[in-house]
Amino acid sequence: MSTDDVRKALEAVIDPELHRSIVELDMVRSIDISPNGVVDVTVSLTTAGCPVRSHFQSSVVESVSALEGVTHVNVYFDVLDESQKQALAHKLGRGGLPEGSLARVSNVWCVGSGKGGVGKSTLTANLAAALAADGKKVGVLDADVWGYSIPRMFGLGAARPPVSAERKILPHEAHGVSVMSIGFFLDEDAAVVWRGPMLHKALAQFLQDVDWGELDHLLIDLPPGTGDVSMTLAQLLPGARFLIVTTPQPAAQKVARRAAEMADKVSLEVAGVIENMTGFTTPSGERFQIFGEGGGQKLADELDVPLVGKVPLTIALREHADAGVPLVVDDPDDPAAVAIARAARGIVAMSPISLQMLPSSGSNGAPSLPLATPAPSPVPVGASLPMA
Ligand SMILES: Nc1ncnc2c1ncn2[C@@H]1O[C@H](COP(=O)(O)OP(=O)(O)OP(=O)(O)O)[C@@H](O)[C@H]1O
Ligand SMILES: [Mg+2]
Repeated sequence: MSTDDVRKALEAVIDPELHRSIVELDMVRSIDISPNGVVDVTVSLTTAGCPVRSHFQSSVVESVSALEGVTHVNVYFDVLDESQKQALAHKLGRGGLPEGSLARVSNVWCVGSGKGGVGKSTLTANLAAALAADGKKVGVLDADVWGYSIPRMFGLGAARPPVSAERKILPHEAHGVSVMSIGFFLDEDAAVVWRGPMLHKALAQFLQDVDWGELDHLLIDLPPGTGDVSMTLAQLLPGARFLIVTTPQPAAQKVARRAAEMADKVSLEVAGVIENMTGFTTPSGERFQIFGEGGGQKLADELDVPLVGKVPLTIALREHADAGVPLVVDDPDDPAAVAIARAARGIVAMSPISLQMLPSSGSNGAPSLPLATPAPSPVPVGASLPMA
């Protein structure tokens, strides 16, 4: 009897929660065989108080005892350490992305808020279009799997995206932006209940199986609230940064602060605040603070991050969102479009500088292109991608 025989026998021990054998799950920490036929097996558990401990105990004894030459089986337990737990999560498809996914994406921004209807999707679409108009390579991932609205805002129908020869999903393209949404895969109005592992898998697929190509910025439109999607994205994209959208009144700001606290809990960096629906100016020039004022600045001060933009209410912004044409493209002089374009420049300013690679120089070692003295670069914020 060898350790291989014992290992083979242990393949019959199935983790009742994960539905896989403890051998496959790398939970067999050690196997020791004494000459007198006593076998010691140590099984690693995910937590010390693992409720299925007694199941493992009896099932390990049962399967190993059946081997010829075994006189007695001792089962010991220990607990997986953090890195082993991560490896296990990865094995189960619940961990980070495979190495190299999104390696060509320089900055990931999650646009979130504590509550719904504050303009996350409208701002995401318009910020993306503004960045693209500025010559940046931009993608938008609609992570609002329950209430996706990004396809509509880009005037995209529900056509299924094509698949490349490398079996990658190709995003749709609109106004210079690569767009991906669950809406492209569902029949209109189909209700899908996305939870836990399935949601994680869907989002992971959008990040690893979509051919995003080289992107300066990937903007992710989050669903309202601070739930599963944000947690999952934080796990998948530890280098992503949060932009928090809030309306100006104090109540909204409180809810938005919760979103910031959540980001903090899952160790995502909050990069900035965008105040939306900041006042309305009538055609005669009269200004109304419909949703109060000052909330965005207050929240930004509290979080010690910049207020990246203050976007006024304009009818054109709403109309264009409904019509599927980003306002910044169609009417860049609209006050909301001007504010969004300014916010987009703020986002660029917060992005780590990526140096243009110059063609390698000749034998004299001098660069083959004249280089301007670089402007003093802002300190890069956040971790760089690729992600775990
Ligand atoms: N500054 C603005 N001026 C005028 N209309 C706006 C403005 N911002 C957003 N809207 C409109 O408000 C509505 C809600 O916006 P949007 O769908 O972008 O919010 P959201 O935060 O993404 O909502 P949800 O939480 O449901 O995802 C839309 O009809 C949008 O066109
Ligand atoms: Mg939305």
